[in-house]
Amino acid sequence: MSTLGAISLERDTPELARTYEQSGILQFHHGKFLIGPLALKSGDQVLDIGAGTGRLTEFAAGLVGPTGRVIGIDPLENRIAIACLRTSGALTFDVGRAEDLSRFGPAEFDAVYLNSVFHWIADKRLALREIERVLKPGGRIGLNVQDPTKPHESRTLLRQAIEQAGFGERSGESQRVLGATDDELRTLFVETGFVDYKSDLRSLVDLHQNVNSVLEWSEASAFGNFLGGFSPAERAEIDAAFAALVEARHTPEGLRLERYLRFAFARKPASQTTPSVS
Ligand SMILES: C[S@@+](CC[C@H](N)C(=O)[O-])C[C@H]1O[C@@H](n2cnc3c(N)ncnc32)[C@H](O)[C@@H]1O
Repeated sequence: MSTLGAISLERDTPELARTYEQSGILQFHHGKFLIGPLALKSGDQVLDIGAGTGRLTEFAAGLVGPTGRVIGIDPLENRIAIACLRTSGALTFDVGRAEDLSRFGPAEFDAVYLNSVFHWIADKRLALREIERVLKPGGRIGLNVQDPTKPHESRTLLRQAIEQAGFGERSGESQRVLGATDDELRTLFVETGFVDYKSDLRSLVDLHQNVNSVLEWSEASAFGNFLGGFSPAERAEIDAAFAALVEARHTPEGLRLERYLRFAFARKPASQTTPSVS
């Protein structure tokens, strides 16, 4: 079984993948903020790592045009099956993970990006080494990642709900906030040989229809790991406590919850020079 602590890639199901395809529009919106600074242009070769069901990959393919190429990889077969339904000349998808890009040769890509993916990657150093290898000199990397010092509101409320439902002692590893701080990212990027690293933490406001849609979106986004490890009966109790807590976030526009993502950008040196950090 593939695990990251208590995180497992094997909790995904075709139904969660379908739900993600319907509700992953939230990731698509902030994905566009990620792609913008990469300045993709006609003819670019692009790798989307952790492409999920491929909505953002398809958008990127539109930017590079028919002379470019965008490849989306993701370890979850259910998500790639949906992504493969997208048709565009410049677009291909395959099952694969960030830590092993051995199917690609050195210096194949102008840009690599990871949208809401980096926090899930167990071996971040290995992933960045692989990305550096497949980028052309001067190639750009962009990613966004949860910052463990600023968990999403839904994650904070979930932890409270687990405690209120009486399972507080079990919320340790499974509810650990994954991700990377600015210092951790800077160190990883510089050690890997990237230059011009910069990052900033952004607040994203999500408006959900109702409590159920928060739960469904959270579980689909976490491919079954939002409440993974709890039995159906336990989940029902946690869901009820979570629902009560989230109701307090009701506004005339819907349920308002904030997420926080650190956006980070860097590039591979155009030639072998001493790495610089801004
Ligand atoms: C929240 S989804 C984001 C999907 C997509 N990037 C988007 O913008 O909609 C997170 C994705 O990260 C993928 N993922 C998890 N671990 C990964 C790894 N080690 N390498 C690549 N992708 C991974 C998951 O399979 C999942 O599809």
